[in-house]
Amino acid sequence: MKIGQKINPSLNEYKENLSSYKNILERHKKLFTEIVNPNSPSIEKHKKRGKLFARDRVSKLIDPKTNFLEIGTFAGLNLYDGVRGGGSTIGGIGTVSGKKCLIVANDATVKGGTYFPITVKKHLRAQEIAIENKLPCIYLVDSGGAFLPLQSEVFPDRDDFGRIFYNQARMSQMNIPQIAVVMGSCTAGGAYVPAMSDISIIVKNQGTIFLGGPPLVKAATGAEITAEELGGADLHCSHSGVCDYMAENDIDALNITKKVVSNLGPRPKSFRDKIDSVDPLFSADDLYRLIPSDSRKPYPTREILARILDGSELDEFKTNYGKTIICGFARIKGNLVGVIANNGILFSESALKTTHFIQLCNRRRIPLVFFQNIVGFMVGKEYEKRGITKDGAKMVTAVACASVPKFTVVIGGSYGAGNYAMAGRAYQPRFLYMWPNAKISVMGAEQAASVLVQVKEDSAKRNGKKINEDELNEYKSEIINTYTKQSDAYYSSSRLWDDGIIIPTDTREILGMSLDATYNSKENVADFGIFRT
Ligand code: COA
Repeated sequence: MKIGQKINPSLNEYKENLSSYKNILERHKKLFTEIVNPNSPSIEKHKKRGKLFARDRVSKLIDPKTNFLEIGTFAGLNLYDGVRGGGSTIGGIGTVSGKKCLIVANDATVKGGTYFPITVKKHLRAQEIAIENKLPCIYLVDSGGAFLPLQSEVFPDRDDFGRIFYNQARMSQMNIPQIAVVMGSCTAGGAYVPAMSDISIIVKNQGTIFLGGPPLVKAATGAEITAEELGGADLHCSHSGVCDYMAENDIDALNITKKVVSNLGPRPKSFRDKIDSVDPLFSADDLYRLIPSDSRKPYPTREILARILDGSELDEFKTNYGKTIICGFARIKGNLVGVIANNGILFSESALKTTHFIQLCNRRRIPLVFFQNIVGFMVGKEYEKRGITKDGAKMVTAVACASVPKFTVVIGGSYGAGNYAMAGRAYQPRFLYMWPNAKISVMGAEQAASVLVQVKEDSAKRNGKKINEDELNEYKSEIINTYTKQSDAYYSSSRLWDDGIIIPTDTREILGMSLDATYNSKENVADFGIFRT
């Protein structure tokens, strides 16, 4: 059924939404530009050395006229003083020699490409994507290893620096090829990136690999030696055997990498229902008029979907039952998907309907796409009595156990248990994106402030104390400020609670690329038939 004919977004009443979203887009553009097109002295230094920038390396590695699906662009934003966002790496999925590959490139212009805690998190997330989607990995290495001042947050724990090399070994075991291209420093622990790869390539007079650099060698043994002599391309290609190919320069190294990928042999492919893509009937630009400027107002969800789904078609499931959630079959860039989109607060019926729908999709091997905009499950005695907790748990179980690829786009709020039921980060969607207006926290700022004020008042009463009004108001506004700051999409993306912030008009394209990235993976088939919940 065609959807999206009920609203005309060019009407005056949608003007306010548009002007409010323009501000959001401007902020997005500014923050994005500061990361991808920075201005700093280290940029000049890098250029003078004749090295390509990390971003250019990636774009010259992937096949012409293909797009790079970048993840974690805003990682580390405002996390470390004087360090620009991005997490000193670029990560994502690109097509190399016709094969989808996971690419991680160190950005040597940010503190020598060293690994901050968020860099480690980003690298590990990239490897997780490679594992889940069976994607060969290409590491474009140019890094001074661990960021030493923060060693306690980078080195000792399970998901710290060492996990990268552990993953490399395990991925190689899983037949997920590991390829390293050493285009600069590769020091200490970082030396294991090429050493643990199936294939490694090094650039002459530029790439170096050693466990201890020249200053350490001098301190330990008194010997003076240059970096090139200690661990350059000649040593590793002719003597140590750490590297397999020697490249003349960056471009040559990237060309060798393409050849290496072309020799990986056939990659396993899973069956997917994909046909030619059909554009939606309505312009995606309308989205900026449809997203309410006041986040408390309901979204016109079907109208929004009509601007994302192929041909604006949705074969809706149980349209008149559990109306606060929309479930249905649709196509995105030609891929058959099960769409699950919030359309209000979650009631028992909405949870049961979605549980049923998820089982159908899982059984039929149809990927699930969640459009998340949820304040949570309905509260109150009547609903508790009818078992909303157990009905919600069914939906959460279905989401957790579905083995088909899941994709989540947070288009509005992501609060409370609704986050779990709608495939929040803990439910391991293959990719999770936020729109720039999206908000994420355990509850809304106002609600949290009310709850905590109530708790404070009750506790004071129990102790026979009285809190004055000013004190309570100050306490309340502190909570509101903290929640407002922490629920911001950029706060989330900086900490890699998501895979990136995408602007609404790019949603369809990015979901299409994300779906394509999952085609190498095979999922287990469900153990049970469909339970009619
Ligand atoms: N930890 C923290 N900061 C580091 C660092 C590290 N391991 N390595 C480099 N940096 C910082 C530098 O202090 C400098 O900071 P600044 O921009 O604020 O001045 C910045 O990164 C760039 O370093 P610089 O030496 O000026 O750049 P370069 O391109 O000439 O050399 C390296 C880069 C990485 C080759 C060189 O700095 C180096 O050898 N670092 C030590 C690497 C090491 O021993 N790591 C062990 C990790 S276990």
